Amino acid sequence: MIKDEKQTKEFGLRLADRLVPGSIVALIGNLGTGKTALTKYIAEGLGIKETITSPTFTIVQEYYDGRLPLYHFDVYRINDVEEMFELGYEEYFFGKGVCIVEWADLISEIIPEDAIVINISYGENEGERIYEITGLEAGL
Ligand SMILES: Nc1ncnc2c1ncn2[C@@H]1O[C@H](COP(=O)(O)OP(=O)(O)OP(=O)(O)O)[C@@H](O)[C@H]1O
Ligand SMILES: [Mg+2]
Repeated sequence: MIKDEKQTKEFGLRLADRLVPGSIVALIGNLGTGKTALTKYIAEGLGIKETITSPTFTIVQEYYDGRLPLYHFDVYRINDVEEMFELGYEEYFFGKGVCIVEWADLISEIIPEDAIVINISYGENEGERIYEITGLEAGL
């Protein structure tokens, strides 16, 4: 359970320390649950100074100024998983960087089994979020 955005930040910073080349973080959750916010904090934890934006028309944004390359996917607008093959997603997923995928449930068939999957839902109070996490051994 996350109580407020400060805890999202703490979580993101800690998660960043655990990421290695080839890590994939699959984020699943409704509009506004904080997928981009969490991505920003993970990026901060990786030492990325560039501003993380949520692009409307590009599926992937690349950041190279941190400890590891970060490939930030937002597949909300994807119509077919085929589009992932067209942009050569394998180079990203099985490369030397970290991939964070917003709306990963829309492309679940290509999310590797060993991905860190974070299901985010709203809690009862404002700022509260419930994280259900799989693929992170020994927790955080
Ligand atoms: N605990 C929290 N964690 C993350 N964001 C929070 C939290 N509490 C409040 N917020 C706010 O919720 C909003 C989350 O927006 P954000 O764009 O990150 O969501 P998103 O899941 O990426 O949405 P979208 O589906 O549109 O991409 C931000 O305005 C953020 O400040
Ligand atoms: Mg977003």
